[in-house]
Amino acid sequence: SSLQEVIIPCASSLSGDDEYADVDWDNLGFGLTRADYMFIMKCFKDESFQKGQISPYGNIELNPSAGVLNYGQGLFEGTKAQRTEDGRILLFRPEQNAMRMKRGAERMCMPSPSIDQFVNAVKETTLANKPWVPPPGKGSLYIRPLLIGSGPILGLGPAPEYTFLIYASPVGNYFKEGTAPLNLYIEEEVVRASPGGAGGVKSITNYAPVLKAITKAKGRGFSDVLYLDAVNKKYIEEVSSCNIFVIKGNLISTPATNGTVLDGITQKSIIEIARDHGYQVEERRIPVDELIDADEAFCTGTAVGVAPVGSITYQNKRIEFKREGQLVWQELYSTLVGIQTGRIEDKKGWTMEI
Ligand code: COI
Repeated sequence: SSLQEVIIPCASSLSGDDEYADVDWDNLGFGLTRADYMFIMKCFKDESFQKGQISPYGNIELNPSAGVLNYGQGLFEGTKAQRTEDGRILLFRPEQNAMRMKRGAERMCMPSPSIDQFVNAVKETTLANKPWVPPPGKGSLYIRPLLIGSGPILGLGPAPEYTFLIYASPVGNYFKEGTAPLNLYIEEEVVRASPGGAGGVKSITNYAPVLKAITKAKGRGFSDVLYLDAVNKKYIEEVSSCNIFVIKGNLISTPATNGTVLDGITQKSIIEIARDHGYQVEERRIPVDELIDADEAFCTGTAVGVAPVGSITYQNKRIEFKREGQLVWQELYSTLVGIQTGRIEDKKGWTMEI
């Protein structure tokens, strides 16, 4: 394909397809280990993206009055490549990231790459960085697409030029807890998103405003923060870095993604797997009280994967989830990871071998 024609010169300058980069694969956390290459593509406002290119990972030059620096006109995405036991490399639903970026770009007044351009760019970036895809079982290559208003603008308005960029880093577990249950703090002051805002898209502007709450909670020993709805402060919405699910009996519920909650790709995959496994799944508003009363709770996200919640702290009270035996989150996660790593046959067409 034309994709491979683009890639060959880059890949051949590496030490060989089957070789691994010099990384301590047993101690990957979720930090940046810069993979060799990034993908970059630009376009002017009111035009569409043309051809992009792979170039060595490095700093980019931005005008001080770039839209993204001054007014936060930017989106990001996250997706992962996994190595299978038999050495193939699989992407997981990258077209879903492409579609989500399109929706976000529409909300943030930006042009966006076509679905094909996005997916091909993810493939190219992954192939160029093949030695950085961890060995099976050791983690994954986290792929971070960005779309930013890179052109100069002083008055508030859409930037005149846009940059789509993808870089990648091998990663292990997102939380320092590893796979141990998370202790979440329910935040009642800071809100993450409000109706009519941009909480439902992956705008970079959703993330810096919660750093204060996260830092405070981590300082007190919590893993992350769970935010409530801005209007009633009564319904659970989202954790800073992931979506949340609540289990009671055979019912699995997750906050509906209706504008203030990010529509997670792991979230929607887990919903489908849970239904296939015979659970009843509801996407709706979930009062905090239901979480407190739940049998089990877990978080989902690309970076996070699926992580069980061990406790929540709400209004100075800590509630522990102490269910024993085979937990529902483990059952669902094992199916998801099985598909993502090629251990379980992908009947859904979710993976893309590259
Ligand atoms: C992801 O899960 O890919 C994200 O973008 C979340 C981010 C806070 C690491």
